[in-house]
Amino acid sequence: MMSKKISRRTFIKAALTTGIALGGGLVLGCGGNENTMPSGKLPVKFLRQIITKDSTTSRCIMWQSDSPMTEPIIEITIGDEVKKIPAQNSTFTDDDTENFQYTAQIDGLKPNSTYEFKIVDGAKSTENFELKTYDENKFKGIIFSDSQSANYEVWGGVAKSAFEKNPDAEFFINMGDLVDNGEDRTQWEAWMTQVEEPLTKLPFVPIMGNHECYARDWKERYPMAYLNYFAVPENDNKYFNRRYYSFDFGAAHFVVLDSQWDELETFAPGIIEAQINWLRKDLENTKKAWKIVCIHRDVLQYKIIDRDDWNEGFSSVGTTFMPEFDFWNVDVVFTAHLHTYRNRGHIRDFNEDPTGPLYILTGLSGDVRYPGLWANHTLDKFVAPQPETDNFLTIEGDDKNLIIKCFLPDGTKLDEVKLTKKENQEEISE
Ligand SMILES: [Fe+2]
Ligand SMILES: [Fe+2]
Repeated sequence: MMSKKISRRTFIKAALTTGIALGGGLVLGCGGNENTMPSGKLPVKFLRQIITKDSTTSRCIMWQSDSPMTEPIIEITIGDEVKKIPAQNSTFTDDDTENFQYTAQIDGLKPNSTYEFKIVDGAKSTENFELKTYDENKFKGIIFSDSQSANYEVWGGVAKSAFEKNPDAEFFINMGDLVDNGEDRTQWEAWMTQVEEPLTKLPFVPIMGNHECYARDWKERYPMAYLNYFAVPENDNKYFNRRYYSFDFGAAHFVVLDSQWDELETFAPGIIEAQINWLRKDLENTKKAWKIVCIHRDVLQYKIIDRDDWNEGFSSVGTTFMPEFDFWNVDVVFTAHLHTYRNRGHIRDFNEDPTGPLYILTGLSGDVRYPGLWANHTLDKFVAPQPETDNFLTIEGDDKNLIIKCFLPDGTKLDEVKLTKKENQEEISE
């Protein structure tokens, strides 16, 4: 596996250095989506809505600009009042580039409402953007996994199809490895360009993967770009700020965990203990019907075909967190990293058990594929047809039902699970 990874990285690096076209002809390093606006219009790029702890009443808005802004504010009409919310300057330097960036938090919204807002800086302002708040019970989101690519148009195609087929989606999640190289600014811009429209309209839930933690020379580094681009909810630990967090959406409480201690322990030690202490308090305090965990690395270890020294079992992420998920009666655990979709059904105490959390390995949404790499695991219930291309998931429900579906980009349904909060959880798998 390592030799495949190195050769692919070397190829991508060479392509970036020389500027040659990759895959279907996209040259990495597209310049973004800045609109050329007439005088008086404020140009912003990569405007994005970021998840907050409570999407019924609040939203975080972030954007970039090509030059510094003076005193940007968000203007939003709430009821009869036009509110002016000052943005924080969250400009950061990474990959030898100063990224002019601004962040504003909007609070005090009403559930199930539609608002319009614009960004104003001095005499200039943007067009209006739409912001929706959501229900406290019913919800629907889209889940993407591992969008890292040589050609980000592949990611864009999967995302476009998912949003077109699910115009009622209220938020979207990316399970980590958003980009192949976490330092490469051109890849971040290519990634955001492909989902420009959904980012402006729907709250986005990012999850950090190991590829967010690689420098241009492929050495491990602290994921500065990822942590700066996405101002996710606080976790009350400044030392590990933005690396793990939780939020409510509809009838569900979502927990996002960090599984990158192999990459980051030397930079910031102690995240396993800090996360477990935080996780216990977080899960104890939620009153939501569903407890859903999202974590980049998988809990199982899969045998690598043709290698006798890499056998099936449980990963260190699994042995670390699965007993906690059992104890707190987590309903669903979504994982990623292996670039394959697998439904492993319910597992408790490291065994198949209908009372345990449901474990879904979410697949991939970019062009980095591992054909013929992973053997099936004894706990696999459904494996996507091999060799795999791409997929996306939907998750919808209310306080009684939770339905998870996996689709190919063309809309073909691969798998469906329904959980019901009644005497015994009832499951239908296709
Ligand atoms: Fe990945
Ligand atoms: Fe990964």
